[in-house]
Amino acid sequence: MHKITMLGTGLIGLFYTMTLHRHRSRDRVHVVYSPTEEHVKGFAGEWEIPRWTTDMAEAIHDPETDVVVIGLPNFLHQEAAILAAEAGKAVLCTKPLGRNAAEAKAMLDAVEKAGVFHGYLEDLVYTPKMLKSLRFVREGALGKVLWVRSRETHGGPHSAWFWDVELAGGGAIVDMGCHCIEVIRSFVGKDNRPLEVMCWADTLVHPVQAEDHGIGLIRFETGAIGQFEVSWAFRGGMDLRDEVAGTEGTIWANHFLRTGLEVFTAVGPRGYVSEKAEGETGWLFPVGDEVHELGYTDMFNDMLNALDDGKGPMETFYDGYVVNAIMDACYRSARSKRWEPVELEVWRGMPQPVEEKPPLAYGDRFLVVKQERMPDGKTKLILRDRRTDRIVQKVVSADE
Ligand SMILES: NC(=O)c1ccc[n+]([C@@H]2O[C@H](COP(=O)([O-])OP(=O)(O)OC[C@H]3O[C@@H](n4cnc5c(N)ncnc54)[C@H](O)[C@@H]3O)[C@@H](O)[C@H]2O)c1
Repeated sequence: MHKITMLGTGLIGLFYTMTLHRHRSRDRVHVVYSPTEEHVKGFAGEWEIPRWTTDMAEAIHDPETDVVVIGLPNFLHQEAAILAAEAGKAVLCTKPLGRNAAEAKAMLDAVEKAGVFHGYLEDLVYTPKMLKSLRFVREGALGKVLWVRSRETHGGPHSAWFWDVELAGGGAIVDMGCHCIEVIRSFVGKDNRPLEVMCWADTLVHPVQAEDHGIGLIRFETGAIGQFEVSWAFRGGMDLRDEVAGTEGTIWANHFLRTGLEVFTAVGPRGYVSEKAEGETGWLFPVGDEVHELGYTDMFNDMLNALDDGKGPMETFYDGYVVNAIMDACYRSARSKRWEPVELEVWRGMPQPVEEKPPLAYGDRFLVVKQERMPDGKTKLILRDRRTDRIVQKVVSADE
């Protein structure tokens, strides 16, 4: 059983506490910190948390807790992680790890120097659909992964600090691109080095400096391409979708907006529908078990099981650092309008095996580019002539 220090009582502090205290969990939040007394006291009362404090260091140093969960605004992650590492506690930090790679690296160095367990709380790689998709990809069901597209869009965040570039470290890219980038890395393989990025970012809607839209391309060592799309001005709820294209297969996953539960109501449920839902009447697309669908349940299971077993979790501070480094390159590219290299002070991935599958031959002279069954039942072969390099076609009747 772990006794946990929870830092932050906002949206994510609530989701994390809900996850940790649900079902018959052995692990409990033992002390909670938030700077506002009224808020933290109320939170502790509601979730039956024995202690609360408005002093962050006191919460971290609580003698009874062994795990610190950081659910604070981005500008406080570094300070909290370093304090927790120095206190010798296991540290689990929400996304993004830092506001930039320099902060993330300082946090990584701190946990490694202290030799404490560290986990990067990237819930979206733990959603049920993601875990199954990852298994298919790892077992080879899609062949070689060529292209991964990951999208997170909604109408914009719920607290002031997110909208302040200094406090948050950026806009929609640092807030949501971090999720998409880790989804992409997970599918192309986390040993697959991200080489360079091309990114567009702009503020199309809101009166702020931070970008409210971003689209980025990440090119990896194997040639695979990752594509992320984020928006803080999307209408209609929260859209979380991933697509994976491989040489032997395809995956499309819709995690949130259209999960199969569709409700029409003229009067509304009179309350919360699901995160970032825009309306409470008409056709609604609620999410059955949000905490589970968003990956929080499997994420904490992985983290706390790994801690018990003395292993590393699926997501560590190193992963958070790589994600931050990719986002830093995205911001440079959005300014320069060019491909920018991903600068990684430390790269721990393994070199990728080069496994070239020889193209299919047609006789001695041709290589098969593609074949397709046509409406008349015949098969059309598109062939490359090895001698001339010309592309030709040949129609083969059904009985040939
Ligand atoms: N899916 C996810 O993993 C996910 C979802 C939402 C937020 N987050 C991350 O969690 C962190 C917190 O986000 P949130 O949505 O809970 O934010 P929030 O604004 O809802 O809550 C932030 C909480 O931090 C605490 N806090 C301490 N010092 C503060 C200060 N100076 N100003 C404001 N709050 C202060 C307060 O308890 C406050 O309630 C961010 O890093 C965010 O990126 C992750």
